Parts: sequence; structure tokens; C-alpha cells
Amino acid sequence: MSESTDYYRIRKLPPYVFAVINEMKAKARAAQLDVIDLGMGNPDGSTPRAVVQKLSEAARNARNHRYSSSKGIPKLREEITKRYQKQYGVSLDPETEAIVTIGAKDALAHLLFAVIGPEDAVVSPNPAYPIHQYGVLMAEGHACVVPMPTPEEFLSRLQDLYRTSTRKPKLILISFPHNPTTTCVDLGFFREIISLARHHGTMVVHDFAYADICFDGYKAPSILQVEGAKEVAVEIYSLSKSYNMAGWRVGFCLGNPKMIHALGRIKSYLDYGVFQPIQIASIIALRECDEDVYKIAALYQKRRDTLVSGLLRAGWAVTPPRGSMFVWAPVPEPYRAAGSLEFAKALMEKALVAVSPGIGFGPLGEGFVRFALVENDHRIRQATRSIKQFLKA
Ligand SMILES: Cc1ncc(COP(=O)(O)O)c(C=O)c1O
Repeated sequence: MSESTDYYRIRKLPPYVFAVINEMKAKARAAQLDVIDLGMGNPDGSTPRAVVQKLSEAARNARNHRYSSSKGIPKLREEITKRYQKQYGVSLDPETEAIVTIGAKDALAHLLFAVIGPEDAVVSPNPAYPIHQYGVLMAEGHACVVPMPTPEEFLSRLQDLYRTSTRKPKLILISFPHNPTTTCVDLGFFREIISLARHHGTMVVHDFAYADICFDGYKAPSILQVEGAKEVAVEIYSLSKSYNMAGWRVGFCLGNPKMIHALGRIKSYLDYGVFQPIQIASIIALRECDEDVYKIAALYQKRRDTLVSGLLRAGWAVTPPRGSMFVWAPVPEPYRAAGSLEFAKALMEKALVAVSPGIGFGPLGEGFVRFALVENDHRIRQATRSIKQFLKA
């Protein structure tokens, strides 16, 4: 059988770097070894009880077994607009400025597919969540990677790009709190982005997957809070992390009506919408589960503290994040030259702790590893003890 890389589009997608660690993890587990998995950002908590109850009730009704609507049922679109009004003071029209998606990934991949043409330049920070990079390639766009040591530096490089590049950015793709670097921004940063985009007629997509996972009193702003944002921008909101609903596949694209219409057109050819009982249960999440969101964020904060202090005891100083469900840690000096993948492999083999190598998030992720806060406090403590032994050896 010939390789699947014979295919035009598959050739653009390199093998998944994280697969190496996943394979090692599977082997270790098959050998009955206890691996502490802080690799993938897959929430370990349960979905709020009221949401599960509503799902089972709605699933019993045969009317909900039919095809649903690919743009989402009207009541769910209304509910997300009410949440935006309540949380951010942002008014959205549920008919034209909100669409339900099969998670944020569906929204990102198909939105890029809908609005990007061959060789259109899409600017995004690097390192980045893989679909931010490969969604552009799959849509035949030109991925224009800008380093982001700090948000200010990203902005200044973006301004340089507008000044010097012959190919003006067609779209800016950003996401804060940021995966993997955990960088957080304030509304002033978004004001600058929107002002640049409006001036140059560039579209903006803000992936807000970690909207509610914020710590120490920090509240992540919505880009739609910026006046005039809807003229150029959409925001992607997801229930995966805020409500522990990663497996349910519910997200939204909100804001600019033209971009939302384009996404709706593509989706009308591709899907029939999320299973209707899931959409009905999602209304309950948005309407009744604020307290659960608060508790979920508080749990990640506690785990963050456990991990950061445990790593410090192991002689590994890392910066505590203000948001996201990750800790982004520089590879300790003696291992830096070998690279993040080799270091992650060594942690897996010697400490039985799985982390994600920074290189998996793009070339500028090298020199770091990412911890996901998806095991409980006790297990995180166990992981840092084991890392301490490994680093001492
Ligand atoms: C930045 C970012 N965007 C999107 C997603 C995927 O979200 P969803 O489950 O809604 O597809 C993730 C998941 O890890 C993410 O980190």
C-alpha cells in the first residue's frame, strides 16, 4: 500500500510530534507502569449534573433524534448572546451574529476554509495550537508566523509587518489566554489589534477557548468588547473547558455577520448540526451553571499552585500563569541543547511523567515543555517528586 502522504492535502500535514510521547505512554501503561499524564489538555472533570440530566431527558424525546440545524437551534444561539451581554456587555444578534459549531476546532478549521483563498496571508503568534497553523495550510493560505515573547512585542512586529511586507495580512488569528504559552492580555491589546485591522481591512479571529479559566482575580476580556470590533472580528467561544464538556463538541462563532454567514454556508454543506439533545443541554449550561464554571477555574488554580511550588522544590523555576489550564516551562539548562522532544522523552522514561514538548507547537516552541493541569493535586505532587529525583540524578 502506498503512503497516505501521496495525497496532496495530507502531504501538508507533518506527523504529529505528540504521537511519540503518546506511544511511549501507551507502552509504559501496557507494562503496568503508573504514568502521570500531564500531556494533552483534556479536562478530567465531569460536566455539571444539570446538563447531563437535561441531555438524558432530551435524548428520550424522538423529536430530537432527527437532523438538527447546522447553524444551531435558535434558543441556544439566544442563550449565548445573553451570556455575552451579561459577562461582557456585548450585544449580538442571535440570527446574524451567532452560530453554533461542533466545538472551537470545527469553527476554526471551517471558518478559515470559508474566508481564506490561495496564498492569503494569515498572521498568528508562534508557538500556537496546531489547528491555528495547519488550518491555514489546509485552506491553502500562507501561514505568517510572528514570535510572541510578550504581547507588546507581537504587536510591534505586526506593525512592522504592515509597514514592510508586500503581502498584507488578510487575517489575524489570535487566542488569549494562550495555549501553549499561557500569555494573557488586557482590553488595551485588543483595542490595538482592532484598530490595526480596521485601518488595513484585515479580518480578525479570536479563539477564546480558555475564556473562563482565569486565576487570581484576572478576567480575560472578549475582543468583542472593543468598540467597532464586529466590523472586522469574530470570536470563538467553547463549552469544552469552561463547563468540562470537551467530549460534547459545542462551540460558537460570534461577531462579524459576513464571516458568520460564510461559515454558515460552508457548514450547511458539511454537517447537520450538533445532536439536538446536546444543544438543548448546552442551553442549561449557559443559563444555570455559572457556579460550576467558577469551581472549575478554582480547581485549575489550585493545581497550578501545586505544580509551580512542586517544580520550584525540584529546582525548576516557572512562571505561574494567570489563565489557561497549562504551565509553560523552560527546559532546564542541562537538557536544553538536546531539545524539548528529547527532554519530554526522558521525563516520560525516567520520571514516568508525560508532558508536551514545545516543538509540537511550532518551531518557536522549542526550549519549552507544556504541563496540562489534568491530574489531581495528589498526582501532581507525586509527579513533581518524581521530576525532582530525575533532575537530581
Ligand atoms: C486554543 C484552543 N482552541 C481550541 C481548542 C479546541 O476546543 P474545542 O474542544 O472547542 O474544539 C483547544 C483545545 O485544547 C485549544 O487549546
